[in-house]
Amino acid sequence: MAHAPIDADAPVGVFDSGVGGLSVLRAVHALLPAERLLYVADSGHAPYGDKPVAFVQARAEHCLHVLRRAGCKAAVVACNTVTGLSIGALRALHPDWPIVAIEPAVKPAVAATHSGVVAVLATRNTVRSAGLARLIEQHGDGVRVLAQACPGWVECVEQGRLDGPQTEAMVADVVTPLVQAGADVLALGCTHYPFLRPVIERVAGPGVQVLDPAPAVARELQRRLQAAGALRRADGRTAALPLLTSGDPAAAAAVAQRLLGERLTVHAAPLP
Ligand code: DGL
Repeated sequence: MAHAPIDADAPVGVFDSGVGGLSVLRAVHALLPAERLLYVADSGHAPYGDKPVAFVQARAEHCLHVLRRAGCKAAVVACNTVTGLSIGALRALHPDWPIVAIEPAVKPAVAATHSGVVAVLATRNTVRSAGLARLIEQHGDGVRVLAQACPGWVECVEQGRLDGPQTEAMVADVVTPLVQAGADVLALGCTHYPFLRPVIERVAGPGVQVLDPAPAVARELQRRLQAAGALRRADGRTAALPLLTSGDPAAAAAVAQRLLGERLTVHAAPLP
């Protein structure tokens, strides 16, 4: 059956458990500035990283429904936890809709290491997920891949605490032992973590490379839209960046401004 043509002017939907996926939205906006974007932050239910699999999948289904009902031409899963736990099931629910999903940059990390040790920093659910196990099995050959949970990091970003002695100590608790174990590449396997990147780099030191997969997600989205003839043409206007949240809209607006350095239009999300 032929699919209906995609309306190039429709927005691209991006969602995450909270504001972390704004690191992906930022990369998409940088590569595809003509695209209209709609962001859903399920902050009322964050973090996903410690919740049961069925809960995370149900929340992701709700977020995708909101984006689909809003007429989005494609969706970006800006949450490694959702990808690792249930991307197959989500795609099966929307076989006729382009869904691009972030995942930890295991392959680039393995390609970049000189020491033969890399670390994936992620939520507890991602660390335990079949998705990450598969990535390590496919690409980890001959390299030691340390999958490391990072307690408290998501909450820290949700609260906009991106720097300071407490944040630095929290990051050092995780990163210092990894560097001592020989890791020379840290793959950021949670979309909240790029907002801690300056602290992570400072703690890890100059010999350690930090990888964020968000630009690769933006390129994959570009490829998918191009293939479908659905890239939006620039009209010289900067589109507004609406954000829907299941949390407190005022808090989301404040933290989004802190993370992106720009004011987003924030509304309550029609999420259960
Ligand atoms: N930002 C998400 C991820 O990439 C989820 C973090 C969370 O809610 O625990 O995994």
